[in-house]
Amino acid sequence: MAYSDKVIDHYNNPKNVGTLDKSAANVGTGLVGAPECGDVMRLQIQVGDDGVIQDAKFKTFGCGSAIASSSLATEWLKGKSVDEALKIDNMEIVEELNLPPVKIHCSVLAEDAIKAAINDYRKKNGLEELVFEERI
Ligand code: FES
Ligand code: FES
Repeated sequence: MAYSDKVIDHYNNPKNVGTLDKSAANVGTGLVGAPECGDVMRLQIQVGDDGVIQDAKFKTFGCGSAIASSSLATEWLKGKSVDEALKIDNMEIVEELNLPPVKIHCSVLAEDAIKAAINDYRKKNGLEELVFEERI
């Protein structure tokens, strides 16, 4: 299976690989795994007082598409409000990266990691946790 140029680009030059301070009140951490393949993705957001995501980092132990999906997701997250971030849909990632059907779950992992990070942030700040359907 051939990877698209955009996947290869993110894979060779991933954006925002790293770690934010998990214990900080304004940092949300999402850790999700894909049962299909055992890949694991950690995605973190740092939220400003104005509710805008100032920074996002990821670490993914997985395939090229999962790495590219999380790299793209962190790029998209920066500058968005938390509410806007909730609207990121995995199919937008699929389209942007031209992922083939067998790699769609890699983008689902990124969407789920975003939602898990937002929930962690909400929990830490006394906000009600949102309920999401488990899709992977
Ligand atoms: Fe091998 Fe994802 S299936 S790394
Ligand atoms: Fe499983 Fe990509 S093959 S996350």
